[in-house]
Amino acid sequence: MEIVQPIFLIGFMGVGKTTLGKKLANALKLPFIDSDVALEQEFQLSIKEYFEEFGEDQFRAKEQQWIQQLIKQPAIISTGGGLPCFFDNLNEMKKKGLVIYLERPTKEIIQRLKQGKNKRPLIASKSDEELLFFVTELLNERIPHYERAHITATREQQTADGIIDLIQDYIN
Ligand code: S3P
Repeated sequence: MEIVQPIFLIGFMGVGKTTLGKKLANALKLPFIDSDVALEQEFQLSIKEYFEEFGEDQFRAKEQQWIQQLIKQPAIISTGGGLPCFFDNLNEMKKKGLVIYLERPTKEIIQRLKQGKNKRPLIASKSDEELLFFVTELLNERIPHYERAHITATREQQTADGIIDLIQDYIN
């Protein structure tokens, strides 16, 4: 399968966009790009430090700039959970490449987030109860955006082979 455009992985924090993105990039022999990592390099700060110093609005502006300047090249690109939900970012991604939404049940997302929550500024200071409320609310708000992806991958389809099959089906 020849990939000629970027493949964007979108979805909520903690669904595994980075882990799967790396595996997919390996399987397809494509470069892997993570928007959070690219922005951290640009900022010379972690995302958490950037939020603390400059705030969320400034971060969203930087995400928008990043997605706009991205060159249309074959690559696997994992994006921060909020990126597709602000401005015209999702349309921009859909114009440049193929967008795949990694869907997972809310309960599972919460379970996964309880582990590495400290490095995520939006949830770092939340108790388990607050996390449940926050994630449920934010998911309700974001799912309509995520569902505008070209392809939705269910939890079972979220392996490198599963995604490759979905891409093949979509292209043919
Ligand atoms: C965010 C998700 C994070 C990161 C930032 C904000 C969000 O990326 O961009 O902390 O708004 O959902 P991950 O989805 O990779 O955790």
